[in-house]
Amino acid sequence: MPKFILAFETSCDDTSVAIIDTNYKVYANIMSSQPDHEAFGGVVPELASRLHLKNITHCLNAALKKANMNLKDISAIAVSINPGLIGSLLVGVSYAKSLAWSLNIPLISVNHMLGHVMANKIEHPDLNPPWLALVVSGGHTELVIFNTLTDFYIIGQTLDDAAGEAFDKVAKLLNLGFPGGPIIDKIAKSGNPNFHIFPRALNKKDNFNFSFSGLKTSVYTWIKLQNQDFINQHLADITASVQSAIVDILTKKTFSAAIKYNINKIIVAGGVSANSELRNQMQTKAYKYKKEIYFPKLQYCMDNAAMIGSAAIEKFINKEFSPLSLNAFSTKGIKYL
Ligand code: KG4
Ligand code: ZN
Repeated sequence: MPKFILAFETSCDDTSVAIIDTNYKVYANIMSSQPDHEAFGGVVPELASRLHLKNITHCLNAALKKANMNLKDISAIAVSINPGLIGSLLVGVSYAKSLAWSLNIPLISVNHMLGHVMANKIEHPDLNPPWLALVVSGGHTELVIFNTLTDFYIIGQTLDDAAGEAFDKVAKLLNLGFPGGPIIDKIAKSGNPNFHIFPRALNKKDNFNFSFSGLKTSVYTWIKLQNQDFINQHLADITASVQSAIVDILTKKTFSAAIKYNINKIIVAGGVSANSELRNQMQTKAYKYKKEIYFPKLQYCMDNAAMIGSAAIEKFINKEFSPLSLNAFSTKGIKYL
């Protein structure tokens, strides 16, 4: 009989509570986003932690209701402990610890980035390493080789801005709103990706690191030379050209790495994995180079608790539980991504 895991995700500005079973079936994945940050043009950490505190019990109750369960049905509590905003993480970790203690059930810590990767298991429970993961979020851009679910190492990462950050910063330069990725994705659909060729940094064979801060500067200086009417008229073309600069380099490096290290399965994870152009290009190249390519379902691309529960399943099976002295930390840590 499968067991049920109750999972919490509060690393940034989305409060999320999910219930998943040990066969990767999701019974509830409740999200509460925080529009309160919009007025500030980005996430305000102190505000985020206060809103998590306000939302978390509502999300828990909604998850139990959606799954038609009560707390007695739960066998373990999973929570993301890093990386993220420390105040936000601490709300989830404290809440998870008190629930695990009061229900007398195991507590499982999850690295948020590993959660993004394991979001792929929800749709493909039988998918197992070796695989190459491209992890692309608002704070990270990494190529990671997984030999097993617990033995993995980074072969390349961004030296400055993350891919999602590049989308967000360009959207801000163009006054499009936040987060910029989904907005650019939508506008770019009707644009010409070759309208203007923005730079592709570190574009050398066998260099698996990324750099996106030059792209942002290049967009900034180019925009300054245009008049506003021209920008408005060509918004789809400009966003398509920027998107193409980001996606081209992500796709190219991922496939060079998969070929060099002779890895057959490629997994894309993190908020940017929702990008339609990235999905198109990755799928085209996978077909060309005869590689298998996997993306999470769209609802599991952005931060969510179902992916945290998914990453906890292996630990639950192996009885890798955490003590109640568990703490959150803001960095990605040494062992994990
Ligand atoms: O993984 P995530 O939800 O949070 C972090 O852990 O950072 O990723 C958020 C990032 C944001 O930068 C957002 O702009 C980007 O993912 N994103 C997208 C798309 N949807 C979200 N970027 C490109 N295209 C999208 N469709
Ligand atoms: Zn994330």
